Amino acid sequence: MLEKQRSTAETFGIPLAVLLEITHRCPLQCPYCSNPVELDRSGKELTTDEWKKVLSELAEIGVLQVHFSGGEPTARKDLVELVKHASDVGLYTNLITSAVLLTRERLSELADAGLCHVQISFQGVEEGLADRVAGYRNAHRKKLEVAKWTRELDLPLTVNAVMHRQNLHQLPDIIQMSIDLDADRLEVANVQYYGWALKNRAALMPTVAQLDECTRLVEEARERLKGRLSIDYVVPDYYALRPKKCMGGWGRQFFNISPAGKVLPCHAAESITGLDFESVRSNHSIAWIWQNSEAFNRYRGTGWMKEPCKSCEFREIDFGGCRCQAFALTGDAANTDPACALSPLHETIFKQAEREAEGETNRFLYRNFAGGTLEPENDA
Ligand code: FES
Repeated sequence: MLEKQRSTAETFGIPLAVLLEITHRCPLQCPYCSNPVELDRSGKELTTDEWKKVLSELAEIGVLQVHFSGGEPTARKDLVELVKHASDVGLYTNLITSAVLLTRERLSELADAGLCHVQISFQGVEEGLADRVAGYRNAHRKKLEVAKWTRELDLPLTVNAVMHRQNLHQLPDIIQMSIDLDADRLEVANVQYYGWALKNRAALMPTVAQLDECTRLVEEARERLKGRLSIDYVVPDYYALRPKKCMGGWGRQFFNISPAGKVLPCHAAESITGLDFESVRSNHSIAWIWQNSEAFNRYRGTGWMKEPCKSCEFREIDFGGCRCQAFALTGDAANTDPACALSPLHETIFKQAEREAEGETNRFLYRNFAGGTLEPENDA
């Protein structure tokens, strides 16, 4: 069995970039949070030394870049120390942050420690809506301030804008805001509906007309701003005919490490029940886990597929879509992702989403880290 697993995995080299979710703690309460519904409590988080060991090991096995993410990574008091260590072992470092806990002094310390890039999430372009979506007062004002400091410290900036029915009308202004903030890159990321976001689908799902307009605006802006701002675009796959090749295919080009040290094929993988994920605290190396662990090999390649994926001509193009979405919507991660038009559930789900998009539900079920403690950054 092990030999079989090994031969399946051997064709996949270690990913060049790895996402490190160093904590699930977060002061924001975004209704589309992409972290798993069951969060790791702070007491389970890897210690500073354990994260340093992980960083050294990643550099040794050929990883070039790490994204410090969460939750909110700046909630960890040792972030500067971790960035310094990553930099010392030769890793390019990106900070994915909501920015609301940062002071100029701490950002400057991070830059001095070797931080290479900052990505700040925005919930809109004006305080009323942006703060309501984030569930955090003055969040928008703080984000603008930190974006300004980022550029003053000469760090490259990416604006991440998570889009949905309640803020898509602000897209032209979000593009302009990215220019005004001197960002290099804008991610126009439509909400993906699994994890916590699934609970808020009725309040977030855009209409087809909104999405068509969004696509038109992105295409127009890409052309107009060539060489000035690159724009990444993620569409909600409910309105697609083909599902997305999620994570580039399960266990093919991506892994992340959870706050408690689990090595995961995607940030939502723990939502799939019945899979056991190996930890960096185990006796196995990260390279071994990537190549040999049962969880990575379960949905690698095409051997696990059922019909209609099994005989589909696109099976090696989209790998049946997203395993987490398939599990969330059908109860079996080995089913075809219902975002695919060939899934027997596609029509039902599309029609339901269309009805929700035309509905009046605008209230959010907020996400919060109940029971988690959030240290103020000036304790750091
Ligand atoms: Fe887990 Fe798509 S988010 S496979």
